[in-house]
Amino acid sequence: MSLRGRRPRDLPVLTRWLTDPDAAWRAWDAPYLPEWDTTANLQRYAQALASSPPNPNERVIDVGGVVVGMVNRAEEDPADGGWWDLGILIYDPAHWGRGLGSRALALWVQATLDETDAHVLTFSTWGGNDRMIRAALRLGFREAGRVREARVVRGERLDAVRLDLLRREWPGLDGRA
Ligand SMILES: CC(C)(COP(=O)(O)OP(=O)(O)OC[C@H]1O[C@@H](n2cnc3c(N)ncnc32)[C@H](O)[C@@H]1OP(=O)(O)O)[C@@H](O)C(=O)NCCC(=O)NCCS
Repeated sequence: MSLRGRRPRDLPVLTRWLTDPDAAWRAWDAPYLPEWDTTANLQRYAQALASSPPNPNERVIDVGGVVVGMVNRAEEDPADGGWWDLGILIYDPAHWGRGLGSRALALWVQATLDETDAHVLTFSTWGGNDRMIRAALRLGFREAGRVREARVVRGERLDAVRLDLLRREWPGLDGRA
């Protein structure tokens, strides 16, 4: 498994997963956002991918030459403030729960620390996304805060959750179990 920049031949796979309104990942990745809004945004995003160069803040997750997901990052305001929020998405549920996400996240943390002046990294998720929370904790992230019952997911109120890691706490890829 590796992280790499997007190539033109990845586009059909990316577009298929991103624009399928019934894809299972939609129930886990920000499911509190209005569905119509997400669908429209993703369609715009998939179209933009075809005409824009690869963005250094995004990589695809490659397994044996096939794109199975993506990682991204965004700097929190202000620019150069040293706070980057990371994201990850593995499209196919057949690939979940097998350690792939944890491995991709470790590479993405390392790449972000290597390529930016990040002082602190975060993940932003919701209380029902155990796989995301556990993967982050396993990497050494800590729960930075919960806004209780801030997100409505399928009629249930769940916490908004943020996890954080300081640069000095990262043991490096070799220092991890
Ligand atoms: C979140 C995601 C990246 C995690 O990657 P993954 O490959 O599925 O996760 P891993 O196999 O590395 O496991 C991570 C942790 O979740 C645990 N886990 C696996 N399946 C689980 C399940 N069904 N329920 C609860 N925990 C589970 C693992 O045991 C592991 O915890 P541990 O290290 O304490 O044992 C991936 O599931 C995904 O892309 N989901 C859909 C999109 C999404 O939710 N993105 C994040 C939005 S904030």
